[in-house]
Amino acid sequence: MHAWQLIWRCRLPKLAPRREHVPKDSPKENRMPEEIQQAANRRVLSGMRPTGKLHIGHYVGALQNWIRLQNDYECFFFVADWHALTTDYADTSRVKSNILEMAFDWLAAGLDHEKATIFIQSHVPQHAELHLLLSMMTPLGWLERVPTYKDQKEQLKEKDLNTYGFLGYPVLQSADILMYKASHVPVGEDQVAHVEITREIARRFNQFYTGGRISYLPGENDGGGVHLREMGEKEFMAMKADVFPEPQPLLTPAPRLPGTDGRKMSKSYGNSILLSDPEAEVRRKLKPMVTDPARVRRTDPGSPDKCPVGDLHKIFSSPEKIAEVYQGCTTAGIGCLECKSWVADNIVAVLNPIQERRRKYEENPKLAWDILEAGSARARAAADQTLAEVRESMGMSLGYQVPETVAD
Ligand code: TRP
Ligand code: SF4
Repeated sequence: MHAWQLIWRCRLPKLAPRREHVPKDSPKENRMPEEIQQAANRRVLSGMRPTGKLHIGHYVGALQNWIRLQNDYECFFFVADWHALTTDYADTSRVKSNILEMAFDWLAAGLDHEKATIFIQSHVPQHAELHLLLSMMTPLGWLERVPTYKDQKEQLKEKDLNTYGFLGYPVLQSADILMYKASHVPVGEDQVAHVEITREIARRFNQFYTGGRISYLPGENDGGGVHLREMGEKEFMAMKADVFPEPQPLLTPAPRLPGTDGRKMSKSYGNSILLSDPEAEVRRKLKPMVTDPARVRRTDPGSPDKCPVGDLHKIFSSPEKIAEVYQGCTTAGIGCLECKSWVADNIVAVLNPIQERRRKYEENPKLAWDILEAGSARARAAADQTLAEVRESMGMSLGYQVPETVAD
């Protein structure tokens, strides 16, 4: 056994200061950038499962945020196609076209491959190796406790989710995040538990294997330099570094975006407005949208606060228009159809430029594919670095090493 292996077993206190959670009550506009600025290491990573065409909920809930982040931070955004397999392993016929459809929407909405690294998870097989290594040390109890595990199994009764892969979903997600040593992970509320388990896995890994860089100490390999046994604790601490930083979730300050039936917008509910829906389709979908049930007749007043159409106005309309909606609705001065046509105008105005940019990729899908491939090559290079460090810290580097029995 090497001296450094003995020393790390002593579990010396950590050098790195804990990063603070930003209080939930800080002003929304400031929360995200401030929080990032406080961190020493600022790398943003997020992914989406390839569900095909995205809806406007994806846009205001995640994509818009990613697009803002790419301007200021080093960002990695990827298509989590392996994660899609955890629930849809039986029929994989649509995976590839879903990847492209989603990529069209990403690029059309404004994700820029010159600013961010945009890639496909399965094109970076390093994720699989890290997933395997992390799976060795992840206690089953941690996985069984993740709320999405039970919830999804309940909700997706028609699928058999009693699989190894599905239980390991958060381990794979941890590998995605830790691979790039992301400091911040923009996600929705439902994914916070996955970032939390990533932090726990990182901590566990660092406890077991911190000190990987010690092996670069002069003398360890070449017979010269300082021997660790003669090293003071202070010097040792100065050499010590965690392999993985603990990532923070970056909660998207997303307003609730209802679908046309008033429930949360979701493809599986059939209540969504797609980013790629043409104007006529947007208007057709909005016409029968549910409204404040108090407005039975045209003459009944209502409240935009009790109406999903009102929620859409709050997201897509100007303050002046919203004031007009409140005034008209509460006095029965406007009809719901008119109100819906106003929100349709504003949604269409957002979608038009996106659809304009989407056309280029629809006509030449290979353009999007090439962007994803180039991004994947960049991601592989970053992933290789982390994996080398991981292997090294575990004493499992690929390089030749004299067997200990001979060396001692
Ligand atoms: N689980 C995420 C979702 O369903 C997708 C995802 C996979 C992800 N790996 C990730 C998100 C890593 C953030 C970071 O939305
Ligand atoms: Fe909803 Fe508009 Fe009708 Fe009011 S007028 S109930 S906000 S659709």
